[in-house]
Amino acid sequence: MSTSTRFVTNPGGQVGGEIRVPGDKSISHRAAMLGAIAEGTTEIRGFLEGADCMATLDAVAAMGVAIERPGAGVVRIRGAGLGGLRAPSAALDLRNSGTSMRLLAGLLAGQGFDAILIGDASLMSRPMERVAAPLRRMGADVRTNEGRPPIAIHGGRPLEGVDHRLDVPSAQVKSALLLAGLQAAGRTRVREPAPSRDHTERMLEAFGVKVDRAAGEVAVAGGARLRAARIDVPGDFSSAAFFIVAALIAGREPLTLLDVGVNPTRTALIDILRLMGADIRVNNRTDAESEPRADIQVHPGGLRGIAVPESLVPAALDEMPVLFAAAAVADGDTIVSGAGELRVKESDRLAVMARGLASLGISVETRPDGLRIRGGTVGGGGVDSQGDHRVAMSFAVLGARARAPIAIDNAQNVATSFPGFTDLAQAVGLGLSEAS
Ligand code: S3P
Repeated sequence: MSTSTRFVTNPGGQVGGEIRVPGDKSISHRAAMLGAIAEGTTEIRGFLEGADCMATLDAVAAMGVAIERPGAGVVRIRGAGLGGLRAPSAALDLRNSGTSMRLLAGLLAGQGFDAILIGDASLMSRPMERVAAPLRRMGADVRTNEGRPPIAIHGGRPLEGVDHRLDVPSAQVKSALLLAGLQAAGRTRVREPAPSRDHTERMLEAFGVKVDRAAGEVAVAGGARLRAARIDVPGDFSSAAFFIVAALIAGREPLTLLDVGVNPTRTALIDILRLMGADIRVNNRTDAESEPRADIQVHPGGLRGIAVPESLVPAALDEMPVLFAAAAVADGDTIVSGAGELRVKESDRLAVMARGLASLGISVETRPDGLRIRGGTVGGGGVDSQGDHRVAMSFAVLGARARAPIAIDNAQNVATSFPGFTDLAQAVGLGLSEAS
């Protein structure tokens, strides 16, 4: 991942057909971590073999957990039990993966050994006090470097269950606290101002842990034991999002995305796009397992700009970059506010998307917590994705509607969440190529 990749788009995509996207990133991370601390062998199918989830697998392997990968997307984890992880012999390098770092900080806060968590340049600049400070309130010894990684955890501290109230809805922080709570005395409760993705809660239940859930809050008791589980990971809605928008703005015929996770804490992009006039159908929904899944059928059609209701933003935050791409070719203005968290993702996604869109001739106003984008004619040229996977894929989709090719630099991190993106983009009819 050290070499830089350039995407080049060719205008005039003709999107349509039927595809599957790779497994869900959030669910894959959690399956690897919970499998590692469960008793018995967990089998995961549809595991996302992207660089982020591989960083989690490598980290748990470095703590003595036996992992087998008998086939594509299949991972077997011989769980060590909650008290069975071993001290890693070196710092755990989580590369580009914020989810790995924040969730592992919670998991390791109550262990009996020391650990240091590091990552690549992007991860080393991301805020970590949001997880370290509440863990300290539970009695953990967790230090950051002026709020950023490395995170140094000094193990062997007894943890106390605490009531936490999050200022910002964050599934990563909530999950870290629940994982620490499994190892704390008493109850650990997390309250949040808006629902963040609830994959940890659902998966803990699949591993046999009792989770108390009520509106806006979740709690676990310390001392629980996890029983190994079989986890079938659905397609990642956040990866599907790129093709949902591609089908809308560059479709020739309907595009169907098979077996995508449609957990309601993730799918607000569909609601937003419908408000913009999109025809998106959710078919064959099943709720048989812990995560709902469905086929998503997208019918091409024009979009109109809207003021996006702020209530829909938290459950569409990772999809904002591709929504901005859609807004660039919508009729009229699209206004997003309440999305300030985008500034502390893999890049400052408000700034990087605004700069890229402006350089392609789109009129964009940047606000502290959002963007106002006036739909228009997209020109060609060059944009720098700043090593942010979702920014790179958003411009790759928008390229179908540009008047000339777009060169997208620093696209190598697309492999963190979406291995095979370029091949799939070509298969659905986007004119995308890749150069190193
Ligand atoms: C994730 C939570 C979200 C999301 C990230 C994955 C997770 O971050 O942006 O891509 O798997 O828990 P926050 O929890 O910081 O909102």
